[in-house]
Amino acid sequence: MTDGRTAGRSGDQSAGELHAPTLSTPVVDSADRAGAPSESPATRSPDPPPDRVNILLVDDQPANLVALEAMLEELGQNLIRAGSGREALKWMLTHEFAVVLLDVKMPEMDGFETATLIRQRDKSRHTPIIFLTAADQSQTQAVRGYAVGAVDYLTKPIVPEFVRSKVAVFVELAKKTELLRRQADLLRASEQEARELAESQAELVRDLEHKNRELESFSYAVSHDLRAPLRRIESFSQVVQESQGERLDDAGRHYLERVREASRQMAQLIDDVLYLSRVTRADTREQEVDLSAVVQLLVDRLRESEPAREVEVRIRPGVVVTADGQLLRIALQNLLDNAWKFTSRTPAARIEFGVTNVAGEPTYFIRDNGAGFDMGYVDRLFAPFQRLHLQNEFPGTGIGLATVQRIIYRHGGRVWAEGMPNQGATFHFTLGRLRP
Ligand SMILES: Nc1ncnc2c1ncn2[C@@H]1O[C@H](COP(=O)(O)OP(=O)(O)OP(=O)(O)O)[C@@H](O)[C@H]1O
Ligand SMILES: [Mg+2]
Repeated sequence: MTDGRTAGRSGDQSAGELHAPTLSTPVVDSADRAGAPSESPATRSPDPPPDRVNILLVDDQPANLVALEAMLEELGQNLIRAGSGREALKWMLTHEFAVVLLDVKMPEMDGFETATLIRQRDKSRHTPIIFLTAADQSQTQAVRGYAVGAVDYLTKPIVPEFVRSKVAVFVELAKKTELLRRQADLLRASEQEARELAESQAELVRDLEHKNRELESFSYAVSHDLRAPLRRIESFSQVVQESQGERLDDAGRHYLERVREASRQMAQLIDDVLYLSRVTRADTREQEVDLSAVVQLLVDRLRESEPAREVEVRIRPGVVVTADGQLLRIALQNLLDNAWKFTSRTPAARIEFGVTNVAGEPTYFIRDNGAGFDMGYVDRLFAPFQRLHLQNEFPGTGIGLATVQRIIYRHGGRVWAEGMPNQGATFHFTLGRLRP
């Protein structure tokens, strides 16, 4: 204070007018945090507590104020002088104080009246007040009886060590309270941010689900409507072939056959699209599924379909999961069909079903030593109608893996592939929680 850090007011100020006090040193104010860089509250730690807090010294005797300042200066806080109760109240309107040292005996408005008014304002209801009383018995008694929450009192003449240690306690308290308040603010802000984030994510998911449903019903409707004209193409070209076939030359008959072949292919594509959208829309039902048994059954059927083929099949026994059995059977069927198909040109064909543990998560796989594929195109594999092999080598429409992917996604899992040309392929998948 003596070096002019704070410009306090002494009692010579005209008592009648209430004008805002001014300070030559910035008083620590919680609003000072405005300019802080905009970080997410979740990653921000609270600002450190203020280095300085405000201490209000109220006495009508300028000499007493100077003496108080000298005693408290070494605490290194903002000391603010008020020469009257009225001036003290003005300061309280605009600033927060760690503690108020309040002279009891003042003309016009004594310490008790001032304290009562301080207590009436919400902002200063809990500001600690230390009364400074004369040593006479009556004032000390009065302070004891004062019921508006005086925190303490000091009798004059004031002992510097006493006042310093008492004030130091309140300075610490104010700093801790401010730190707590900042932490609470931060917590509130991060809670709010998390709530907003969750809301906008839920909104996005709802939006996406809606769009997906629209898209699915659109593709369903389109595929469905395409069937009727296709059937007419097929049946009229059949009629032409049967009734007029003899009148056509070889080229004509060949072209007509190509028309029929193309329409059959298109019918297959449409069926696949319809099938895919049905898989995604099907209701799910959770149950225990013995994947090993399902794989065994599917392999038996594949063997029956081509008894001449010799394929070594290894199935890890007892792999049981909780999932939708029907959907998983379709997924496994597609993976095994592929393994069977893409090993059809491999001399000692081998297919394996097993499970590994990757970071505590069971990961199931189907591996074969067949044609494999180029990892450069791995992203395409699961897209509908994308194929990496020639139709005349390995026929198909390219819908199998898209189906597998949807089924695994519906189970909250992931599916991915590894392969190398002529070295076989492995398809891995995990299962999470079934989505409705
Ligand atoms: N086990 C595998 N080995 C090598 N390539 C594979 C294997 N499985 C799938 N692929 C590649 O991924 C493509 C897409 O597979 P997907 O099962 O979707 O279609 P498809 O088998 O060709 O036809 P569909 O399953 O509809 O009859 C295949 O055409 C093939 O190029
Ligand atoms: Mg397939």
